[in-house]
Amino acid sequence: MSFSPSTFFPVQFNLAQYHSFADVINYLNSLAITYPELVSVQPIGTTHEGRQIPLIKITNKRNGATKRGIWVDGGIHAREWVSPSTVLYFIHQLVTQYDKDVQIRHFVDNIEWFIVPLLNPDGYEYSRSSNDPEIRLWRKNRSPAKCIQQSSGLFQPPTTTCCQGVDLNRNFDWFFGQVGSSTDPCSEIYQGAYAFSEPETAAVRDFVQRHRISTFLTFHSYSQILMYPFGHQVRTYSNDLNDLRSTALSAAQALNSVYNTQYKVGTGADTLYPAAGGSEDWAKGKAHVKYSFLFELRPEEQVWDGFLLAENQILPTARETWEAVKVIAQKTIELPANTQRSPAKRCIDHDSLCPSWAQGGACENWPEMRLRCPRSCEVCV
Ligand code: ARG
Ligand code: ZN
Repeated sequence: MSFSPSTFFPVQFNLAQYHSFADVINYLNSLAITYPELVSVQPIGTTHEGRQIPLIKITNKRNGATKRGIWVDGGIHAREWVSPSTVLYFIHQLVTQYDKDVQIRHFVDNIEWFIVPLLNPDGYEYSRSSNDPEIRLWRKNRSPAKCIQQSSGLFQPPTTTCCQGVDLNRNFDWFFGQVGSSTDPCSEIYQGAYAFSEPETAAVRDFVQRHRISTFLTFHSYSQILMYPFGHQVRTYSNDLNDLRSTALSAAQALNSVYNTQYKVGTGADTLYPAAGGSEDWAKGKAHVKYSFLFELRPEEQVWDGFLLAENQILPTARETWEAVKVIAQKTIELPANTQRSPAKRCIDHDSLCPSWAQGGACENWPEMRLRCPRSCEVCV
């Protein structure tokens, strides 16, 4: 069996450049036309400005066996341009290497890939519309302006300020609004009126809930960190922390082996800052996927203008990240067949002395303690 019409009608798309939303749509649609046995494209929602958010599904449609699902999204934050570009590279690899690479064929035969390269097209197009930093460095979506009254002093009439946009990665239903987000519509980390108030986040929720998904991968830039849940509070982990952490460490090692790029591995709260309402936390904590990871791509944290990543960095970033994703995909295939998307086991201590050890400060000082005494260490959520 062969899927290589590309030999005759190559789909033209320069992966080494940043592209408009229209170019991305055209690329996805031409893949669907050129590789109908592997690819379908569907909209999963409509943004405030009326753009349809495309999802590309990649799998060998002739293999009807039940497969594991992997969700991948890029571009949830508008200014993080290397994220959608990197995700487009994954798409390109899966589709064009199917016939050439046995490992890729294995991934496409045995996994349903659900990939949204550009989750926030309104924000992305806005950030492309000007080099004015206020615009190029836009982070949120483009939800309609909301206004707040601010008192400007005694006997002064209150002034009204109106601002657009919700931080989509504060809008998921995971300790919504509790930490690291804002109720001020003018803030860059405005959480929105309520969890899933935005069409982009509601689209993710609905799709993930309606499909068999074992692994959830979401791509940001920048800082070179590979995160697993939970990010809303420091030192807070799922019961299967060991599985997530060991997978993340192998993935980071595979990434490192390409260009020696160094990644930190840990939760968002432990490596960066606590923030509620993040999608990787919701996917693990509420949608009960097995593996949930957030990548903060290149460049390293110390770079001050890291969102403005030069185009010659796109392919190196994408290549090394793809090695990490392949490790996670292989772990996903290896999951036991009975891995159910069920809530984590009840939060119980495994030793009757846990409460007194916890009292004595062992949770902070003895790494094993959090696994042995999750209840007393209050790491379960
Ligand atoms: N830079 C990302 C953001 O601010 C990282 C979020 C990490 N997740 C978390 N729940 N803290 O959205
Ligand atoms: Zn981001």
